[in-house]
Amino acid sequence: MSEYKIAVIRGDGIGVDVIEEGLKVLNEIARRYEITLEFTEFPWGSDYYFEHGKMMPDDALDTLAAFDQIYLGAVGHPELQDHVTLNGLLLPIRRRFDQYVCERPSVLYPGIRSPLADKEAWDIDIAVIRENTEGEYANVGGFQYKGFPEEVGIQTSVFTRHGCERVIRYSFELARSRDKKRHVTSVTKSNAQGYGLIVWDEAFERVAAEYPDIATSSLLVDAACMDFVRKPEEFDVVVASNLFGDILTDIGAIITGSMGTAPSGNIDPMRRYPSMFEPVHGSAPDIAGQGIANPMAAIMSGAMMLRFMGEEDAASAIDGAVLSVLEEGGRLTPDLGGSASTAEVGDAVVAQL
Ligand code: NAD
Ligand code: IPM
Ligand code: MN
Repeated sequence: MSEYKIAVIRGDGIGVDVIEEGLKVLNEIARRYEITLEFTEFPWGSDYYFEHGKMMPDDALDTLAAFDQIYLGAVGHPELQDHVTLNGLLLPIRRRFDQYVCERPSVLYPGIRSPLADKEAWDIDIAVIRENTEGEYANVGGFQYKGFPEEVGIQTSVFTRHGCERVIRYSFELARSRDKKRHVTSVTKSNAQGYGLIVWDEAFERVAAEYPDIATSSLLVDAACMDFVRKPEEFDVVVASNLFGDILTDIGAIITGSMGTAPSGNIDPMRRYPSMFEPVHGSAPDIAGQGIANPMAAIMSGAMMLRFMGEEDAASAIDGAVLSVLEEGGRLTPDLGGSASTAEVGDAVVAQL
């Protein structure tokens, strides 16, 4: 019997509610597939900040290092500055555990009506691979003359050959293993940013040469945003820098239904450290506390976690149950046009298992 130690951080806002449903589903699947999932919850996030003046304890990263994986809800509170909360919890975890791949599927499932006209189930099936530890999120910079009219803020992007090549290589391996269009699109902006993104472009060319069986294109990020709306069915694997991947995956989420159906994995492909699985969405203060957040993204992030740990059958069973609930259509949250609550959707997925 396989045993896994999972650290759980619900975080803020709807993160708390969607993880409740994710755990419900994971506990049920564990029972059915004879997997032992040992969950340890950490009450870190904005409430912890209000009490302790920090998002998590000083030794939190050492604590997390002892776990197999991390299962996270969302972070962000309307009364706190996002750069404080996110740089106090989410981003240090991604960096410290070198989760250099952020894998975010955008798939149009049966039962979901895309806001784009004439798109049918499975027409959109994109895997965005987002660089997750450097680029525009490198956290390098500083202020000068802070608080004075001469104030300066400097934010430096960091693109390393090593960092670009490894995430680009992952995207080519994925295009091979998906065996769909066998195509990788690189998203760049080297027409305007002629240093870091040149390192990116050249890394892409070098790695592409190692994969003659995979077709490639390179798109400027503005045009890529346009094509995600205009002809998303043409994409297969898309590899993008940290910021561009962030933006593209919100578009990917909404053209395939909702922020509430987009899962994600922050992955250390080398498995030296825990990886972290979380929905693409944030803490959604506009609907927090109402019990109407869609838990499907969190539930499918749980499936991604199981798949990453080699539990393919259990993962597929979860995905299948979510798809059945979508197709059946009677128990959906308001973001998908229904009137069900977060807990009712979680229960519906469990019932489908
Ligand atoms: P958001 O993703 O929280 O919400 C964007 C929109 O999508 C909102 O209208 C929201 O109601 C809707 N939405 C999101 N998740 C949903 C769900 N599961 N079901 C139904 N509707 C859903 O983005 P935001 O409003 O820009 O950010 C809110 C806070 O979350 C900010 O503090 C931000 O920094 C933070 N954030 C955190 C993460 C994370 O923890 N990974 C991700 C994104 C944003
Ligand atoms: C995401 C979020 C985060 C990101 C923010 C909250 C820092 O938007 O996970 O997509 O940009 O990575
Ligand atoms: Mn985002």
